[in-house]
Amino acid sequence: MTDTLDIKITKTSKSRLAETDFSNLVFGRTFSDHMLVADYSDGEWKNFEIVPYGEITVSPGISALHYGQSFFEGIKAYKHADGKVSIFRPDKNAQRFNKSAERLCMPTIPEDVFLQSLAAIVDVDRDWIPGAPGHSLYIRPFMFATDQYLGVAPSKTYKYIVLLCPVGPYFTKPLRVKIETHYTRSAEGGMGFAKSSGNYGGSMFPAKKATEEGFDQLIWTDAKEHKYIEEMGAANAMFVIDGTVVTPPALDTILDGVTRDTVIQLAHDFGVPVEERKVSVDELIETARNGKLNDAFGAGTAATIAPVGSIFANGEEYFLTAPENREFSQKVLKTLDAIRYGNAPDTHGWNYLV
Ligand code: PLP
Ligand code: COI
Repeated sequence: MTDTLDIKITKTSKSRLAETDFSNLVFGRTFSDHMLVADYSDGEWKNFEIVPYGEITVSPGISALHYGQSFFEGIKAYKHADGKVSIFRPDKNAQRFNKSAERLCMPTIPEDVFLQSLAAIVDVDRDWIPGAPGHSLYIRPFMFATDQYLGVAPSKTYKYIVLLCPVGPYFTKPLRVKIETHYTRSAEGGMGFAKSSGNYGGSMFPAKKATEEGFDQLIWTDAKEHKYIEEMGAANAMFVIDGTVVTPPALDTILDGVTRDTVIQLAHDFGVPVEERKVSVDELIETARNGKLNDAFGAGTAATIAPVGSIFANGEEYFLTAPENREFSQKVLKTLDAIRYGNAPDTHGWNYLV
């Protein structure tokens, strides 16, 4: 544990809070009044500052822009009925932040510095946390390389920034998903387990094609054979097959989701069996056909628990039971919300109070 982090705070004289319409939030479009910034140089993190949200100036020669030495995290803060504020499992994001950093040859941030930085910015903008059901404050920490150098080599300087966005639900209806059997999100030995910006840039073309075909999301399959399910858009793919929760193992091609881990823990609490194993496209189609696919959803911070309405594979569309009739995901969402909004005991210590 390092000492209290020294953060210089300069507050805005023109808050945008009063003019923000909290009833019509589009995910990621509304930013709070402040942001946290810090620099890395000479082998250390320095200049932690909270400043009014706004533009920053960087050189056009920075390696983040040219070679994608850049990654991010996604976390949510919740407002409880009694006014308390908590961040959901940020320690897990701190660990994943540092895994991403290592994969990209970027500096890590000590876990407690990361946690203190989140708590400080959330505290300054705590009035920006929406209180309505399904709403929260999305926290976006990210880091990028700032050396002006066009040689392909790790930068020696970096910027760490934390932005905040009040958000409502990312998805508002059950998803029509398509199994992707041509394009690939990540391959073994690649960066699938890291939250590197390039993973998302590369996913846009296949996702755009799928949207044009009328689908909401893609289910990514393995790069070698396109035979096994990997992830669902920017969320982990989770299923209930014949009463058992089944999800692909979070190895190096899959982002090890905090929501996924939370759902697995809740399944254990409910006494529902869990299998972390490969799920083939054929198994999914077969179980959808014979009625054994009880539930399918994406699990993620932005997505929360996003029910799948239908799955399109091999030229056919398979429809699932209406989400309100799915026992498992309904119970998970209810339990999770009760914990995150402070309405149920936090027995696992998931709420980091600010
Ligand atoms: N997989 C991908 C590719 C994602 O972008 C996300 C979102 O963060 C997830 C899974 C879910 O991870 P988490 O639950 O930690 O948000
Ligand atoms: C998150 O859930 O935090 C994500 O990263 C999804 C985001 C890319 C919108």
